[in-house]
Amino acid sequence: MSELGTKTLQEYDQKYVWHPFTQMRDWEASPPIVITHGEGCYLIDSDGNRYLDGVASVWTNVHGHCRREINDAIKRQVDRIEHTTQLGLANDQAAILAKRLVEIAPTGLCKVFYSDNGSTAMEIGIKMAFQYQQHRGGNAAGKTKFISFANAYHGDTIGAVSVGGIDLYHAVFRPLLFPTIQAPSPYCYRCELCSEQDAEKCDRLCLKELERLMASHAEELAGLVIEPLAQGAGGMIVHPPGFLKRVRELCDRYDVLMIADEVAVGFGRTGTMFACQQEGVTPDIMALSKGITAGYLPLAATMATQKVYDAFLGDYRELKTFFHGHTFTGNPIACATALASLDLFKADSLLESLPPKIGYLQERLKVLNELHHVGNVRQCGMLGGIELVRDKRTKEPYPWEERVGMRVCMEALQHGLFLRPLGNIIVVFPPLAITLDDLKFLMDGIEASIRCVTDES
Ligand SMILES: Cc1ncc(COP(=O)(O)O)c(C=O)c1O
Repeated sequence: MSELGTKTLQEYDQKYVWHPFTQMRDWEASPPIVITHGEGCYLIDSDGNRYLDGVASVWTNVHGHCRREINDAIKRQVDRIEHTTQLGLANDQAAILAKRLVEIAPTGLCKVFYSDNGSTAMEIGIKMAFQYQQHRGGNAAGKTKFISFANAYHGDTIGAVSVGGIDLYHAVFRPLLFPTIQAPSPYCYRCELCSEQDAEKCDRLCLKELERLMASHAEELAGLVIEPLAQGAGGMIVHPPGFLKRVRELCDRYDVLMIADEVAVGFGRTGTMFACQQEGVTPDIMALSKGITAGYLPLAATMATQKVYDAFLGDYRELKTFFHGHTFTGNPIACATALASLDLFKADSLLESLPPKIGYLQERLKVLNELHHVGNVRQCGMLGGIELVRDKRTKEPYPWEERVGMRVCMEALQHGLFLRPLGNIIVVFPPLAITLDDLKFLMDGIEASIRCVTDES
C-alpha cells in the first residue's frame, strides 16, 4: 500500500491532475480508484482491492504486471545507463532491439526509426512517406496527400489526428489539420454501402469505393494509412478477411505507400506477432508502440523498407536527411525492456498459447451476441468488442448521453474488473498472458454487468 492514505492520494489527484479524454467536472465529483500496485493480470488499489485488467492498461500489457524477468532487465539496465542520445551516438540496447524487430517483422521491413509513443510513430510514418515522394521528384513530387479511413484512430498529435476519422475526438481540431481523402470504414455491422452484415458474404463495396478514390487521386497520393485487421478506438471494428491484402494490391497499383499502424494490434494481439502477417502483407512503413515494451515504458518504432530508406540517402548538400527526432528516441531502458519482453514471448511460448484462449473468447462472445441489447460482437485474436444497442432489430444505438458503455464498466468494478468502453462498445483486451480461468472470470463479469445495466436477467 502507499505511504499516503487513499483519501490524500485521491485529493492530490483531483486537485492537481488533468486526465486524458475525461470531463474533469465529472471526475472531480467522485473520488477515483488509485492504483498503487500490479500483479499478473491484476491491478491493486491503495486499499488493496484487486481488479482484473480487462483492457491491458490502455491496450499495452502483454505478460501481466510486474513480471520478474522484465523488472530485472530494467534494474540491470538502470545500473548500466539510463539514457543517451541517438544524435551522434549509438547505444547497445537500441541496436540489438532493431535487429530483433527486423527479424520478427513482416519480411522486407529492415530499418527502425525510434520514438516514444504511438502518435509520434505515426507522425514519423506520415512525414517519411511525404518526404520520400519529394525525393523521388518528377511527377511523384505532386504526391502530397494521404488517404485514410472513416473510424480510424492514429493518435492525438496534429498529423495523426489529420488522418483520423472519429469526429467525436477530431472535429473540433479540423481547422488545424491537413486535408485528407477519407475512404469508408469496412464496418460491416453499420456499413453505409451495403446491407449485408456478414463479412464473408458482402460484396466489398468499401473496397470498390477505396479503389475509385485511389484511382481518381493517384497522382496526388503519397500514402495510405491503415490499422491492419481491426480499427481499435473506432470501436474494435474487425475488417473482413482479405481486406488488408487487397489494400496492399491497390497501393501497389496506384503507387501509394502503405503505412500500417500496428500500435494497438502489434505484438501478438491478433494471434500472430503482427497483424499484417495474417494476410502475408508487408507495408512500406509500419508503426509500433504500446505492446513493444509489454506495456512497461514509452517506446515506439517506425519501421521502413529498404526502398523507403534508400530515398533518403545522398550528399549532405542534397538535404535528403530525415530531419526528425525526439529527445528520448532509442532510450536504453525502454529498449532493454522491449528485449526482455521478446525473450518472454519465446520463453512462455506466448503466441502458441493463444489459440485456446482465442477459441474460448469466441464462444463467450457468441453467447453474448444473443442478449437483447447486444447488437454485434467482434473479435480478432485476443481483441474483442461488444456493441450495445437500444434496439437490436433496428440497430438503434443507445444515445451517447446515456453512457451505457461507461455504466457497464462501472458495474464491472463490482465484479472485480477494470474495463474502459469506447462509447457503447465494451472492449475486451486483456493481457495476452491471461489464464483461461481469469478469462472466464473476465467474461462472466462482463456478461453479468451487461445484463445488469441493460435490464436483462
Ligand atoms: C492504432 C493506434 N495508433 C496510434 C495510437 C496512439 O498511441 P499513443 O497514445 O501512444 O500516442 C493508438 C492509441 O490508442 C492506437 O490505438
